Amino acid sequence: MTEQKATNVHWQEGDISREERAKILGHKGCTIWFTGLSGSGKSTVAVALEGALYERNVLAYRLDGDNVRLGINKNLGFSAEDRAENIRRIGEAAKLFVDAGLVALSSFISPYVLDRNGVRELHQEAGLDFIEVFVDCSLEVAESRDPKGLYKKARAGEIKNFTGIDDPYEAPSSPEIHLHSDKQSLDEEVNIILAELESRNILN
Ligand code: ADX
Repeated sequence: MTEQKATNVHWQEGDISREERAKILGHKGCTIWFTGLSGSGKSTVAVALEGALYERNVLAYRLDGDNVRLGINKNLGFSAEDRAENIRRIGEAAKLFVDAGLVALSSFISPYVLDRNGVRELHQEAGLDFIEVFVDCSLEVAESRDPKGLYKKARAGEIKNFTGIDDPYEAPSSPEIHLHSDKQSLDEEVNIILAELESRNILN
């Protein structure tokens, strides 16, 4: 838990409710939290899902590990502490997007159960839907894909603390959705998530 540093700060209520904002967009918001190894396909599924939601007039916004680390989180590295702060900040950012009414698509390795559960609690306390999607894929397959050539570098010792090589990945034990990106097609994966969104009445 990150401590509250500032004192004498108070929540400021507005006049427009979340439900009223949702009426403007015509759908509910939620966070879809993709977790999995580098190269497992998190960003690929998020991009395809964003397209499918766009076709349905649903406003989604992607928060992607690499992109966020080039901006708001450029001061963070890959130690356990920095990864925790990376996930905490993005969890807070996703919560803001969802409170605004959007579908937040967050793709981060987010290797630690504790950090992911922190984001889950943040959403639950605020009455917001949080859907954890485990993009499961064996290390062998992720490493054979190696889209950024990073596994090769990690094996050569040129990158330290690389998830799956010399840093841990704690798989979720009960994610809302468990995808197998080494066995399912991209279309199948997108359809599974769309079905979950429909069952939660998020799309209308
Ligand atoms: S997380 O662990 O804090 O959730 P995040 O998803 O933001 O990680 O960033 C992971 C991306 O950073 C990877 O897809 C990869 O491109 C890059 N990267 C660079 N160094 C590392 C590392 N040591 N471990 C994992 N990913 C790394």
